[in-house]
Amino acid sequence: MQKDWNGESVVILDFGSQYTQLIARRVRAEQVFSVILPHSARLEEIIAEKPRGIILSGGPATVTDEEAPRLDADIFSLDLPVLGICYGMQLIAQIRGAVVEKANHREYGHTVIDTDTQSPLFAGTPASQRVWMSHGVRVKTLPEGFRTVASSPGCPIAAICTDRERIFGLQFHPEVFHTDHGTAILRNFLFEICRCEPVWSSRSFVDLEVARIRERVGDSRVLCAVSGGVDSSVMAALVDRAIGGQLCPVFVDNGLLREGEAEEVRGILSECLTAGLVFIDASDDFLSRLEGVENPELKRKIIGATFIEVFERASELHGPFRFLAQGTLYPDVIESRSTVGPSATIKSHHNVGGLPETMRFELIEPLSLLFKDEVREVGRYLGLPVRQISRHPFPGPGLAVRVPGAVTREDLDLLRKVDRIFIDGLRREGLYDDVWQAFSVLLPVRSVGVMGDERTYQKAAVLRAVTSMDGMTADWARLPYEFLQDIASEIINKVPGVNRVVYDISSKPPSTIEWE
Ligand code: XMP
Repeated sequence: MQKDWNGESVVILDFGSQYTQLIARRVRAEQVFSVILPHSARLEEIIAEKPRGIILSGGPATVTDEEAPRLDADIFSLDLPVLGICYGMQLIAQIRGAVVEKANHREYGHTVIDTDTQSPLFAGTPASQRVWMSHGVRVKTLPEGFRTVASSPGCPIAAICTDRERIFGLQFHPEVFHTDHGTAILRNFLFEICRCEPVWSSRSFVDLEVARIRERVGDSRVLCAVSGGVDSSVMAALVDRAIGGQLCPVFVDNGLLREGEAEEVRGILSECLTAGLVFIDASDDFLSRLEGVENPELKRKIIGATFIEVFERASELHGPFRFLAQGTLYPDVIESRSTVGPSATIKSHHNVGGLPETMRFELIEPLSLLFKDEVREVGRYLGLPVRQISRHPFPGPGLAVRVPGAVTREDLDLLRKVDRIFIDGLRREGLYDDVWQAFSVLLPVRSVGVMGDERTYQKAAVLRAVTSMDGMTADWARLPYEFLQDIASEIINKVPGVNRVVYDISSKPPSTIEWE
């Protein structure tokens, strides 16, 4: 992990709250760099980030339980401002000797609190304000050296601070949208209490990363795979800005791309990168190996293995390379050192992370500190076309996971036509950016229809559109009925071989976004 954001960072210690990443994003939205560390972080790890303040997140545990997560480090010895949110506040109170107890009932939802407007944390916010609570434990007595700076009838100690106004606790969540003045409260903490400077921006990020990459790479060469997706395009553009011709971007056409995609991506990347793009048409390799394979996991494994082979050949042909650049994002980094442990493998997501032993590279992951929306910002700053930056995610195994069962060229062609109509329609009606992801699936079943006076017996296609924050959970998008009707009839009229269209209204969980 890279350290030292000009000594202007805030460390967030994660106690497992669903809102931890949201806190980090809110802080960064104020142009202050934030780093999430597990609650078990050692003092040296925290100090290495040179923070100006520390935030303790909420969490699902109960502080009074034996196994509840604790602070491993004595962060109070650093004499930095600390803000404990929900579980974080309860922990501070407990450490400082207060009585913390389970409430009679869980408090969840909006509450109006009365605040001490003299407290710097609430400066500029109303004396009475609506906040969002979500807790079943409360601080019953004040810890020594603290005073109450907010209360509500149901929660007499809703916010606390030390007399010196360095350590704060909030029973409610300032990071969520439902807390009316949450942004102002966080701003007060960052700027009035921690005295942070708002210096974190796409520009400063790019300047710093470009310098870092140059220094690390020297005159060595760097290989990277670009998929045409947002992350790998922005990563390549950034590394390209740093080292230009020393970068070798490889784009593999696996025969599982959408209509016109290979040409489009090739065109955009060739325009945006000074390094020459290596384009490899390996569609025959992929499609022949997938022939007759029905099992989704096997399909994914074959695609992953074939990709590595093709990539290996490219690296031999164009190498040698000392470094491999990857578009890993911050949520992946946080996930991999999660305090809760890795989640069960639902699908084997393939990426270049699983390269064989013989291909030993040093990794460059310049986006590993960023969230998706920040990556888009950086892409905009680097001058990538808006259309490229706002593209929906597209899975590595491509259309193979959108043709359930065995994949054939004919079915892929059929699916491409259906998908093109759907996506073009979304763009035309200005709906494309309202959804996280939209695509079509071609079902391996046929159904009876009637066209003119003729009986038809053809395939059914699925339209899937979801809203989501990060792809981890998703809801089906409420696209207008009229739009869906128009698209369905356009597909049935224009794509011979498809006589039925259905709309997928499953959410994730329990379904997943892709069908396989
Ligand atoms: P699921 O289907 O697991 O998808 O709900 C969540 C998100 O991940 C994308 N996805 C993949 N991305 N390689 C990728 O790079 C993969 O193998 C892969 N499988 C799913 C999916 O499109 C959605 O955005």
